[in-house]
Amino acid sequence: MTHAHITTWVVALILFFVANSLFKSGKEKPYKITHMILRLFYLLVIGTGIWIVTSLTNISGEYIAKIVLGIWTIGMMEMVLVRSKKGKPTKVFWIQFFVALILTIILGLRLPLGLFDWF
Ligand code: HEM
Repeated sequence: MTHAHITTWVVALILFFVANSLFKSGKEKPYKITHMILRLFYLLVIGTGIWIVTSLTNISGEYIAKIVLGIWTIGMMEMVLVRSKKGKPTKVFWIQFFVALILTIILGLRLPLGLFDWF
């Protein structure tokens, strides 16, 4: 189950960086398509996350934090892309993206289920 979750967020991250560089190099149409596929992957990341949570019998505070952090990471990816498109500054959102991403991954690995339980 966490295989599917890991696959979807890794693909989402790749799509995010690809969409960003397509936008930077002025490739409007490929950027739009990549951003659309990325939005589909947001739903898949959230969907697989919820799927794991629904299999639990005891949802601890750490799980709630994991969900909030995961959604925050996704929110920051979307903010970076949308604000770049509007020509607005993105620095604050890039910083939040990296902080949220690192915390989400650490907490994901800390939680007991899944392939890895490192921290
Ligand atoms: C970009 C966003 C996200 C990243 C980078 C991420 C990352 C991770 C990682 C690294 C794991 C550990 C996998 C393993 O040990 O096999 C994990 C597990 C998990 N994630 Fe996410 N996640 C994200 C979004 C979400 C969202 C939105 C939700 C909920 C709606 C969610 C819910 C979960 C749950 C419930 C687990 C299982 C935790 C456990 O091992 O007990 N994640 N995630």
